[in-house]
Amino acid sequence: MKNYKMLIAKEVSSILDGFTEKDIAALIEYPPNSEMGDLSLPCFILSKKLRKAPQAIADDIKQHIKMDEIQRVESVSGYLNFYLNNERFAETIVKTILSQGDQYGSQDAGKGKTVVIDFSSPNIAKPFHVAHLRSTVIGNALYRIYSFQGYTCIGINHLGDWGTQFGKLIVAYELWGNSNDVEIGGIDELLRLYVKFHDESEHNPLLEDQARAWFVKLEQGDQEALRLWHWFVDISMKEFKRIYQLLGVHFDSYTGESFYNDKMGAVVEKLKEKDLLEEDQGAWLVRLDAFEMAPALILKKDGSSLYHTRDITAAIYRKETYRFDKAIYVTDYAQNHHFQQWFKIIELMGHEWSNDLIHVAFGRVSLEGMSLSTRKGNIVKLEDVLQQSIAKTKTIMEARNPDMENMDEVARQVGVGAVIFNDLSTNRIKDIVFSWEEALNFEGETGPYVQYSHARASSVLAKAVNQFGTLIVEMEVSSEHLINDPTINLLKELSMFSERIESAMQKLEPSIISRYLIDLAQAFNRFYHECPILVDNVSVREARLALVKCVKITLRNGLKLIGLESPEKI
Ligand code: ARG
Repeated sequence: MKNYKMLIAKEVSSILDGFTEKDIAALIEYPPNSEMGDLSLPCFILSKKLRKAPQAIADDIKQHIKMDEIQRVESVSGYLNFYLNNERFAETIVKTILSQGDQYGSQDAGKGKTVVIDFSSPNIAKPFHVAHLRSTVIGNALYRIYSFQGYTCIGINHLGDWGTQFGKLIVAYELWGNSNDVEIGGIDELLRLYVKFHDESEHNPLLEDQARAWFVKLEQGDQEALRLWHWFVDISMKEFKRIYQLLGVHFDSYTGESFYNDKMGAVVEKLKEKDLLEEDQGAWLVRLDAFEMAPALILKKDGSSLYHTRDITAAIYRKETYRFDKAIYVTDYAQNHHFQQWFKIIELMGHEWSNDLIHVAFGRVSLEGMSLSTRKGNIVKLEDVLQQSIAKTKTIMEARNPDMENMDEVARQVGVGAVIFNDLSTNRIKDIVFSWEEALNFEGETGPYVQYSHARASSVLAKAVNQFGTLIVEMEVSSEHLINDPTINLLKELSMFSERIESAMQKLEPSIISRYLIDLAQAFNRFYHECPILVDNVSVREARLALVKCVKITLRNGLKLIGLESPEKI
């Protein structure tokens, strides 16, 4: 994409000594109103290095600049303001989008590089609740964003399928459960058993000992322990896969924590060899005092492994298997310390790639002011939220358009889209108070609003075919019809797409794309209301239709990046 910022940066860097294109691009701003230019270069930072007043630098560049794309340049109090040649600009943007189609916005910066993304990773035998939605949708968006930038992505679901909690579950099942109830009740019954274990163990500490013993058995390959464990895993996976299908999320690998059971021994040996492990009352840990962190427990007294042990082993395995350039972990910030600890251990083991490990933390989800707790049963199941959202969408659609074909499919796309978009609409690090009202809100700056704008663009294009015969959107549009205010404003939004994707990738922040889609949809809706499209004048009509096609392409590409579908009709 001919990025105007980069074009200007290139020209300016060829005029000034000692600044690269990138240096200049980093300084260029988009002024809040176009009277101050479409783009503007503040010359204050340049002034230090060039030992010249900002105003003089701006004047100097102004004299030497020569670009067809720029209509005029003005030097005002140390700023150099660029005014685009609107016709030229319109022509370039429309041509670029139409010719690149579903690749519009993509880049090949990541060609030949691999990123491993560990996301979603729910815990077996516990319901998939609204907090896991965050990791799932943020991770999925990062996966798509990185892929669109040319990276090879490996999405890993690091299922929580190992650990003492399975000992607890086995004890509870043996004491209070039966196979019939588990078969019928699924995860709900497993949760009931788990909660019961916690209630009972409060006054019967022996239960905890029994649970630990069962987990040791499991790690040692005891038949009965493994049989029950496999069964719990199968039951949970059925539910998880149903949810991933609804969400349209895909993983390249489901290697959960249990996968590393036979690989941890070698890692523990390495830690000993490197003199990092220290015995403490029969347990083994890595001291991290020098880095102002709590010690990381690697083996318990009874020899069983921990969350840390499995994460360290998994990272080494992934490096060997995928030769990643980056490995990303998406969890809430309550796990910050956990990740800092084991990233440090990887470094202390001498792996220089410890710098390529990135923890992408997000805010916590609470439920009407109370924190979510699986143990206390204070949770909202994601599947319930998705189903309710789908049902609500269907009700709205039935009232509006009762004869619509594929109503169920569209209701799913929009209902699920609303929930995903809502989750991705604020900075990831912000805490979220889950509210049903908010999750099922379709008005204002929501996923359905963006999807609806896309459907509106599709329907204009379809109408044009009906009214005027086959529609061939030509690349050679008469761009003199694309220069009024709402149109240029819309073109500017369209032109920002790849910059927004890049910054979403750099900041690991999918909400930048959701924000962008809202801005684009709003610019489109303004254009739609102010500029009649299906007019008699052929060249005006064709120019506007070409622009509508560009909007459709860009909205669709953007929605896809954050994991939403783009139905043609709503
Ligand atoms: N299962 C964990 C949880 O639900 C998340 C795992 C994240 N990934 C990792 N490699 N630690 O909190």
